[in-house]
Amino acid sequence: MRSIKDAPNLNQKKVLLRLDLNVPLSNGKITDTTRIDKILPTINFLLKNEAKIIILSHVGRPKGKVVNELSLKPICENLKNNLNQSIRLISKNIKEVKSADLFDNRDEKIVILENLRFYEEEEKNDKVFAKHLASLADIYVNDAFSCSHRAHASIFEITKFIPSYAGLQLNLEINALTKITSEIQRPITCIIGGSKISSKINIIKNLIAKFDNIIIVGGMANNILKYKGYEIGKSIQENNCHKIIEEIFSLSKKKSCRMIYPEDVMIGKDLNGLSEIKELDNISKDELILDIGPKTIKAINLLIEESSTILWNGPAGYFENPNFAKGSIEIAKKIIEKNKNNSIYSVVGGGDTVSLLNSIGATSNFNFVSTAGGAFLEYLEGKELPGIKALN
Ligand code: 3PG
Repeated sequence: MRSIKDAPNLNQKKVLLRLDLNVPLSNGKITDTTRIDKILPTINFLLKNEAKIIILSHVGRPKGKVVNELSLKPICENLKNNLNQSIRLISKNIKEVKSADLFDNRDEKIVILENLRFYEEEEKNDKVFAKHLASLADIYVNDAFSCSHRAHASIFEITKFIPSYAGLQLNLEINALTKITSEIQRPITCIIGGSKISSKINIIKNLIAKFDNIIIVGGMANNILKYKGYEIGKSIQENNCHKIIEEIFSLSKKKSCRMIYPEDVMIGKDLNGLSEIKELDNISKDELILDIGPKTIKAINLLIEESSTILWNGPAGYFENPNFAKGSIEIAKKIIEKNKNNSIYSVVGGGDTVSLLNSIGATSNFNFVSTAGGAFLEYLEGKELPGIKALN
C-alpha cells in the first residue's frame, strides 16, 4: 500500500481525502470528536506540503436522500476551529461540482463536500459517480479505516480512476491491528454490542473459531433472547436472524467457544426514561431492553478476569441515557482494573464505544483504541477489507 508520505510533490495538488467523520451527533451538536481529532495529523501533513484538500465523508445512513440533520455542517465548524483555517462546505449537488469550481483563490486550502450518502450511487459503488469524484482531484487518499469494510464508490471504485494512497491514521490502525492479531494471547474474549445488528451478526460466525469466549450485549443480544423464546417488547431487533443464530450456537459448541448473552436486563418505557431491573421471563410488550442487568455484569466480569486478551466493540446499552450506562461502564472498569496490573491486553473499537470511554475519561487505560467498529470486526475475521484491497 502506498502511503501519502510516498506521494510525489504535493504542492498545489488537489487531494481528495476520504475520511470517516461519522461522529455521534445530538441535536446538531457533536458529542464525541475522536474521529475528527485522529485525522488532524493527516490534514496538517497535507497543509504543510501545500496541498489543496477536498474532504469527503459520510455521516449516518441517509440512504441516498438529503437529510438535513446529517449534514457535515457541524463537522466543518469543528474542523475550522481545530485547524484555525477557513473551510468551505460545498452543499451543491456533488454530481454538478467541477474541479475548477472548488477553490475560490490561492489562499483557500480546504473544502468539504456534503455527505456522500445523500447520493444513492455512493453505497452502490457506482462507477460513474466514482469517476466523477476522481475527476475533481489529482490524487486520492483513504484515511478512513473505519469505512474500509464498505465497497462504496468513495472507498473502492474511485481507486480505479486516480492515483491512490493510504492516509496516516489508516496506516496506524492497520499496523496496530496486525501486531495485535499476530501476538494475541489466550484466553481471548470478544465483547460485541452496539446497535448495528445487521452489520455485525453475520461476522460473529466467522469469529467463533478465533475466540475462546464471545460475549453478546447491546442490540444483537435482543435477537438472541428472542431466539431463546423470551419476550423482548419494543426493543431494537433485526428481522430474519433465526437461522444465523442457530448456526452461531451450533458452531460455538463444535469449536468450544463459550457464547455469553444477558441473564437479566435493564428495561425502560422509552429511551429517555428511568431504568428497572428485569428477569428475562418478566419483560412486557411495551418495554425496551436498554442495558444488561447486574447478574449479567457479574458474569461478564468473571470472564474478563479469566481472559488474557479482550477485544471490545459496541456498548452494552443505551449509554447516552445515564440510566442505561451502567453495564458498559462496569465492563470498562473491570478491563481497566486488569489493565492497570498488566494482566490483560485490551483493544477497544467503534465510534460509540470510544465515545463512551471518552465520557468517563478512560481511553488511555486501554492498550489500543481503534476508531473502527464494523471494519475492526471484519478485520478480525481475517478478511481483506475492500478499501484496503483497492489501495493494494
Ligand atoms: C462506522 O461508524 O462504523 C463507519 O462510519 C461506517 O458506518 P456504516 O456502518 O454506516 O457503514
